Amino acid sequence: MSSMYSGKEKLIDEYKYVFNKDLLKGKVAFITGGGSGIGFTITEVLMRHGCDTVIASRRLDKLQDSASALEAATGRKCLPVQMDVRDPKKVQAAVREAMTKFGKINILVNSAAGNFLCPAEGLSFNAFRTVMDIDTNGTFNTTKVVFDEYMKNNGGTIVNITALLQVRGQAYQLHAGCAKAAIETMTKHLAVEWGEKGIRVMCVAPGPISDTEGFSRLGGKALSDEYVKNIPVQRLGTREDIANTVLYVVSDAAQLLTGTTVIADGGSWLTSENNVRRSRKLIEMYSKL
Ligand code: NAP
Ligand code: COA
Repeated sequence: MSSMYSGKEKLIDEYKYVFNKDLLKGKVAFITGGGSGIGFTITEVLMRHGCDTVIASRRLDKLQDSASALEAATGRKCLPVQMDVRDPKKVQAAVREAMTKFGKINILVNSAAGNFLCPAEGLSFNAFRTVMDIDTNGTFNTTKVVFDEYMKNNGGTIVNITALLQVRGQAYQLHAGCAKAAIETMTKHLAVEWGEKGIRVMCVAPGPISDTEGFSRLGGKALSDEYVKNIPVQRLGTREDIANTVLYVVSDAAQLLTGTTVIADGGSWLTSENNVRRSRKLIEMYSKL
């Protein structure tokens, strides 16, 4: 995969199977934000392991293109459904459409999110609320509806895609950091309450992932060679890395994992600097690129 985001969704060139190809045979996954970026590749990897899928977001034409490409590449079914995660009625309609088509939802991946770089003092009330609404309320809305419609009586696995902004506090990311921190807390509460119903609730936290909208929006272009050299595994992450992490988390190999976050960043949050003056300079430089 190339390192910058082109806007067109790319399938994995040559997928290397680690797990059995039938790992998720007979299962159905509902993926918010599954029409693009990390969510698209998570959908692809789940389908490559026998899973049928539902991809849900606002742009139906984009979802339809992605679903056709995914079905052609994997031979599994992919249903595109239009919904805004902020609108519980739309979420209910989308989940019911998925239930009518497949009769079950064993896996939910909440990957939909909104983000942009903005200094705290520049955030309007509505800007802060919008990101909280998409990320945190959107994750709750979809989780609650999938629970009510299927998982309450049947169990399942929920994976919330978070980030690492919230771990140390990062320049120009107050809104997204607050939203992702809330999702990680929600994950713990739900794991505690729903464990006895056979539901595991997890987070996967990616570091910077090249070839994504998020990377492009959040100053990926400004990351130096030095930044990459400081990452313990010596490279940026890819969509495939995150998809493989999600695959493990939803598999039976991870039955003891619930209420926690798997950080998938090659160790970068441990070693990358968090110098606010330098971050500001990089962001200003990036905005001129
Ligand atoms: P992306 O392709 O822009 O993914 C965001 C998805 O969310 C899109 O498919 C978008 O589809 C959907 N979405 C946005 N608002 C929505 C709404 N109101 N209702 C329903 N769907 C909505 O970006 P990405 O970079 O791959 O990000 C995917 C996830 O990874 C996000 O949770 C992000 O925070 C996380 N993450 C990314 C990185 C990175 O480096 N890229 C790092 C850490 C974490 P529509 O426009 O069609 O609605
Ligand atoms: N900097 C500061 N404020 C911004 C902004 C930016 N780059 N982009 C949007 N906002 C503000 C808007 O000005 C508005 O506030 P206002 O009414 O006070 O002016 C508020 O945020 C909502 O913007 P709007 O464009 O109406 O929201 P939307 O619901 O149409 O879109 C976003 C949501 C803004 C998050 C949009 O960027 C989006 O759809 N993102 C999805 C893709 C994405 O972010 N991918 C990366 C995931 S990591």
